[in-house]
Amino acid sequence: MQDLFKNIADFIKSQFPGQEFIPLHKPIFTGNERKYVVETIDSTFVSSVGEYVNRFEEMMCHLTGTSYAVALVNGTNALHLSLLMVGVEKGDEVISQSLTFIATCNAISYIGAHPLFLDIDKDSIGLSPNAVKTYLEQNAEIKSDGFTYNKITGRRIKACVPMHTFGLPCRIDEIVKICNAWNITLVEDAAESIGSYYKGQHTGTIGKIGVFSFNGNKTITSGGGGALVTNDEAIAKKAKHLTTQAKVQHPWEFIHDDIGYNYRMPNLNAALACAQLEQLPKFIENKRELAAIYHAKFEELNISYCKELSNAKANYWLNAILLHNREERDAFLTYMNNNGVMSRPAWELLHRLPMFKNTPKGVLENSEWIADRLVNIPSSVRL
Ligand SMILES: Cc1ncc(COP(=O)(O)O)c(C=O)c1O
Repeated sequence: MQDLFKNIADFIKSQFPGQEFIPLHKPIFTGNERKYVVETIDSTFVSSVGEYVNRFEEMMCHLTGTSYAVALVNGTNALHLSLLMVGVEKGDEVISQSLTFIATCNAISYIGAHPLFLDIDKDSIGLSPNAVKTYLEQNAEIKSDGFTYNKITGRRIKACVPMHTFGLPCRIDEIVKICNAWNITLVEDAAESIGSYYKGQHTGTIGKIGVFSFNGNKTITSGGGGALVTNDEAIAKKAKHLTTQAKVQHPWEFIHDDIGYNYRMPNLNAALACAQLEQLPKFIENKRELAAIYHAKFEELNISYCKELSNAKANYWLNAILLHNREERDAFLTYMNNNGVMSRPAWELLHRLPMFKNTPKGVLENSEWIADRLVNIPSSVRL
């Protein structure tokens, strides 16, 4: 086994020559980042008002093909705001996956709502339409108010937040169809999938609202940042209003007409975001090239790996291999991390964390199968 691990470590190192330690994903700033950031400092408009915030929103609309984008401080608050926008209330349930980053379900909890963990598909490693359909058919009912209720908990199931894991699009159109039939609104957690497409449509644009993250570890970064995209004008307008403390526009008066949030992306971050977004096509091409090189090697070594569905085009934010079991996964992680190649397991399944241990859930056997085997390997853009 050690020989195989060494072979893989040497191969990964050969893709990132001249580096002592290969991180999982590091940002690269080879475009207009410095220019735009300095311009922003010189303009003094470093906070939430400024030309780059608006420009970034326009660029996000152009990229995703949506009518509206709202730039936010990070992906977590973009999720929080989106769930509020689609009417999630305290005591509701929100369908999501147990195999996701904690932020997906923290956002649900901020409202006092509860995640309902359903299984993923083994191939897309995103929420499984079949798991959603089966759970709802067995455990849910539509009541006279038109909403779906969980017969086990008695709670309303108001929304569904599938996640495009590591940038691999899930079967989002099928999930939308099922959710529509149950009057459940879809918010896509596309935090990891900027530049990923499903059946030709950008991820995050198939549900009512899509959410992105521009954290430093993502395909493109604004330092910290997030965005939501939607085609719903009313949602976009309200979201933008709430991100700026719900302040009513006036030359000098401080009038606020709602409980708002300080969630708008600062211009300084937006300057970085614009410069990064300009380079997205180049980054994605580079990342897909690396994924193809990895895939060829894994096939030669007879190692399983995660790949896009045939009707999807992934950004391959993080490449992932699948070992035979948890013991082998841990041996691989130990070898790689001790030998200068950063690797990480998938997140601890959320239903196993103390805050979510009493949370309702369906059968999670694919989630458990994947969590026991999956390891992310270095996937940075190489220029
Ligand atoms: C799946 C997922 N959802 C939400 C987030 C939250 O984004 P942020 O870190 O920008 O708050 C992240 C990333 O960090 C993520 O990977």
